[in-house]
Amino acid sequence: MKRKIQMGMIGGGPGSMIGAVHRIAARLDGKIDLACGCFSTDPAKSRLTAAELSLPEDRCYEDYLQMLEAEKGRIDCVAIVTPNHQHFPMAMQALNHGLHVICDKPMTLTVDEARQLRGRVRETGLVFCLTHNYTGYPMVKQARAMVRQGRLGEIRKVVVEYPQGWLASAIESSNKQASWRTDPKRAGVSCCMGDIGSHAENLAEYVTGLKIRELCADLHSFVPGRTLDDDGSVLLRFDNGARGVLMASQISVGEENALRIRVYGTQGALEWCQENPETLQYRRNDQPLTVYRRGWAGTLPEAERFCRIPAGHPEGFLEAFANIYSSFADAAAGHADADFPSVDDGLRGMAFIEAVVKSAADDQTKWLPVAEL
Ligand SMILES: NC(=O)c1ccc[n+]([C@@H]2O[C@H](COP(=O)([O-])OP(=O)(O)OC[C@H]3O[C@@H](n4cnc5c(N)ncnc54)[C@H](O)[C@@H]3O)[C@@H](O)[C@H]2O)c1
Repeated sequence: MKRKIQMGMIGGGPGSMIGAVHRIAARLDGKIDLACGCFSTDPAKSRLTAAELSLPEDRCYEDYLQMLEAEKGRIDCVAIVTPNHQHFPMAMQALNHGLHVICDKPMTLTVDEARQLRGRVRETGLVFCLTHNYTGYPMVKQARAMVRQGRLGEIRKVVVEYPQGWLASAIESSNKQASWRTDPKRAGVSCCMGDIGSHAENLAEYVTGLKIRELCADLHSFVPGRTLDDDGSVLLRFDNGARGVLMASQISVGEENALRIRVYGTQGALEWCQENPETLQYRRNDQPLTVYRRGWAGTLPEAERFCRIPAGHPEGFLEAFANIYSSFADAAAGHADADFPSVDDGLRGMAFIEAVVKSAADDQTKWLPVAEL
């Protein structure tokens, strides 16, 4: 019988946000078993989560290093779902213990850490996956495949926006997720651009296959008392000469999770919205609007492969997240054609965040290169 990938989890304790999503995503395709965890810095809370998950008591740990040591030879990978500042040390330690890593974004706190992590991934040959989960949607994969087929012609313009409204007021004293995201020690040099701007950057590069070469940024912190940005706008120049606009905002009142991308080429254009993820719009000047629907006529093999159920039975955030996990599990099992965000994407994300913050801080020299990687 084929053995499932055995996974440990770090983070994802009671009241946390993304840990439970990772667990559902890991389970969905039956390729991964959650075998152990260190779910919280508070041992009692960690035990509570372990009990809810029916994990044996002796496989719930008070400290993640203790888990990595005790689980040697028993697990194949770890999922890291803690606040940002811990991703780097935890991922390095996991690699040093011979484990594949699936880690949430942003990958590290600095570009320097990201470079070190990439170096270690290359040295060990282990699989590293970063959960830029929006690239897991079938219609995002369809968009990328259509760009690759040349259906847009030469890409000229990319507009990507990610507005949310949940940080429009100072909720950080009472909201755990807001508290660390607005704290430079735990979030890094940016709140909004690091947290969601990095998803937008990754989506733009994934769909277009282009790289952001230079950028010019404006960041602002609207809510009094915040030292990190809660809103930002960035002009982009891509490596083929295309121009772009990236907006990320967490003070856009009334917005939920409205990630949207539009890509315009010489022959056609595409539009995809995360809140309506089963639909991809394709526009041309000389023909009526074409609307592609996941799993329906016109779905390309690159997208079809990531569909689970027939068209009209909505798939969403959890399934897209599970597509990333499924590809990660395939890679960990030795399959070469897995499609998931890598340590290189993580490094690009960190270079993007760093360039955005630097550009925004300087009112004179605005256009800055995104560090050569
Ligand atoms: N991909 C996405 O769509 C997405 C969405 C939300 C969050 N995230 C990312 O996921 C990460 C976690 O975010 P969140 O909103 O779930 O945070 P959270 O504050 O809700 O949860 C963090 C959890 O980690 C635990 N933890 C912290 N330090 C620990 C340690 N040393 N050992 C064990 N557990 C520890 C906490 O107790 C808590 O349970 C962040 O990096 C964030 O950027 C990604």
